This record gives sequence, structure tokens and C-alpha cells, in this order.
Amino acid sequence: MRTQIVAGNWKMNCNLDESLHLLNELKLKDFSKAEVEVVIAPTFTNLYAVHQNLNDSSIKISSQNINENEEGAYTGEISPDMLKSVGVEYVIIGHSERRAIYNESDELLAKKATAALKHDLKIMFCIGEMLDQRKADKHFDVVKDQLEKGLFHLSASEMENVVIAYEPVWAIGTGETASPEQAQEIHEHIRNVLAKKYNQNIADQTSILYGGSVKPNNAKEIFAKKDVDGGLIGGASLDANSFAEIVMSF
Ligand code: PGA
Repeated sequence: MRTQIVAGNWKMNCNLDESLHLLNELKLKDFSKAEVEVVIAPTFTNLYAVHQNLNDSSIKISSQNINENEEGAYTGEISPDMLKSVGVEYVIIGHSERRAIYNESDELLAKKATAALKHDLKIMFCIGEMLDQRKADKHFDVVKDQLEKGLFHLSASEMENVVIAYEPVWAIGTGETASPEQAQEIHEHIRNVLAKKYNQNIADQTSILYGGSVKPNNAKEIFAKKDVDGGLIGGASLDANSFAEIVMSF
């Protein structure tokens, strides 16, 4: 049985006080009823404090980015070891905002994936097509290409620490979501691509999350699809009640 995960990507929101406040609200929710791993991704400056304040909560911490180098003259960057040292368990790699705004290439993302795994950090690797690519019916090829270039240098055993997040770019922050059927068909495709590259076991074990305007009112029907193993939640993760409702949609 693969792990079901609901992860909140806080993006560049919440200062320290706001992050701790949101965490405290989440800690009041009883996530134990949902058989799902709950992950939150605060911004770099708040990772340590959030981790220190988890207490006995089962919530896990993710960073939103990572640098591919070990250490050295990379002003403004954060290394894998730094993340590990403050309690980070997951890293989001390849979010479409990093790809689009910061020009992160597939080649760079591949290096980031290797660097994260070397430090025992699990990866949430984001893929997804843009609107014009979907309109041109290229979405299946686009995600396959992103997987091949960003992840397929990894071994089968390394893939055990990789979660994939399918996030159609046209659905991120737009209020428009993929229909449950659209999500299912592309998640199934992703699983088939994994099976072909690695083996059926790896494909069956890999959690594939959907992201893009997941809200309390649409989470249940998306999560009900057989190849959707959870969600990567942006906007709705900034509100503890909405995020908890999404978690409870399982
Ligand atoms: P959204 O963001 O839920 O606000 O659409 C999702 C994401 O960017 O991961």
C-alpha cells in the first residue's frame, strides 16, 4: 500500500509568528483519523522554529527548494545538509514557479534530486504541463519528458524516496482544477511510465499527488481516483480549517 500524503506548500507566505500560529492551529486538528501523512512546507527562515515547535505532532516538514551543491561560495543558497540539520524530511523540487520564474532547468532539477537523496531527504518532485501544451494535447509527452530528464538518472532503490506531484500549471492558483478524470488519466500514465523505466513494483509504490487549486469542496472526488495518492496544496494550506478538511477528505 503506498503512502497517502497531503502536503501544504506555504510558498512565500507567513512570517515567523504567522508560521507558528498556523502550526499551532494545525496541531489542534486530529489528523490521526485520516490515514495520511501530513507535510507542511514553510519558507526557509521558519523551518527550524516550526520543527522545534512540532512537539509530539506527526506533521512532517518539507522545504520548498534546495541547492544542488554541498557547500561553498553560493551566496544566498541553502544546502542539503543545512536542511537536514534543522529537521527537514522532504524537499519540493521542480515546482512550476521555480521552473518558470527562476528558470530552473530539468538538468538542474536532476542535480537537486541527487543532492537531496544523498542527504536522506525525501523528494516531492513536481511535474505538469502548461495550458498551451494541454490544448495541443501534449500533456502526456510533457510529463514523460520531465520525468526522464529530472528523475530517471536515479536508481530503483533511490526512487523509493521520491514522491511525484502532478501539477498542471494552468490549475495552480487559478481556481481551475483538473477534473478527477483528467487527474486519473495522467496519474495512470505517470505510473505506466515509471513501470516501463523501473518495474511494476516501483510504479505501484510511488505516491503520486495532485496539485492545482485543491480545495475542501473538490478534494474528495479527486482523491477518490485510484492513482491519486494525495495532494500538494498551495492557497488552501494557509488556512488551518481548509487544510484539515482536505486532509480529512481521505
Ligand atoms: P494552489 O497551489 O493549491 O494554490 O493552486 C498548488 C501548488 O502550487 O503546489
